[in-house]
Amino acid sequence: MQIVILKDAKEVAAYGADIFAAQLIHNPQSVLGLATGSTPVALYQDLIARNRNAEVSFKNVRTFNLDEYLGLTGSHRQSYRHFMNEQLFNHIDIDKHNTHVPQGDAPDPFVACDDYEQAIASAGGIDLQLLGIGRNGHIGFNEPSSGLTSRTRIKTLTKATIEDNARFFSADEFQPYLSITMGIGTILDARKVVLLATGENKADAIRATVEGPLSAACPASALQLHRNAVIVIDEAAASKLADIEFYKHIEAQNQKLLKRLGK
Ligand code: F6R
Repeated sequence: MQIVILKDAKEVAAYGADIFAAQLIHNPQSVLGLATGSTPVALYQDLIARNRNAEVSFKNVRTFNLDEYLGLTGSHRQSYRHFMNEQLFNHIDIDKHNTHVPQGDAPDPFVACDDYEQAIASAGGIDLQLLGIGRNGHIGFNEPSSGLTSRTRIKTLTKATIEDNARFFSADEFQPYLSITMGIGTILDARKVVLLATGENKADAIRATVEGPLSAACPASALQLHRNAVIVIDEAAASKLADIEFYKHIEAQNQKLLKRLGK
């Protein structure tokens, strides 16, 4: 894993946006894996600005989101489809037909999960997958104990995740406790993975991801198996890493080498 430790959330978003912009410039027909939650919002704003400045185009891009609440229609205010439209898709030159979010109100959600896997495979797989991380180490809605080779399926949310996401729902609103999520195996199939995390409340999860054992207890630790995973974090999220100075040293050496090679 490449560990990139930056000053704050603003730098993390800009670094993540640079990776996405580079991918789009390298391959304007990229297949992107996208995430919801608070963390990617600033990255999406950055990409919207670059799209308006004609630095990047999404005209020929296809996207697949990680997850969706089971039981919500795409037009529901709290659905992840609605979130993606509001935070990104409505503001860029993407064809919405090319954007995919698991169908929360599918007549048969089990079939919808298999279809989602099929759609990703038919698109040729995901080139670049964006991830956030839960305080409990979840990626997508792969909660602790998720199978490390799992595929898109229905997952029950933990109490901690339901509590963390309660901030988006009003008190009298139904808050789903089930989801459809890409599996850990689905995520590991992406050709490149970028995980963003900011804030002290993610520090334990980041330590378990980077320095903990490979374990279903921390689903994000599965990224240790990925050959092209970048963990982009701020100082606060990095604060519980034992080897923080070493990771900074490695990254500085990497940057020096790339500069010397003119990359
Ligand atoms: C969202 C997702 C989740 C979030 C995670 C962190 O699609 O799959 O794994 O990335 O819960 O959420 P935030 O960024 O709100 O802290």
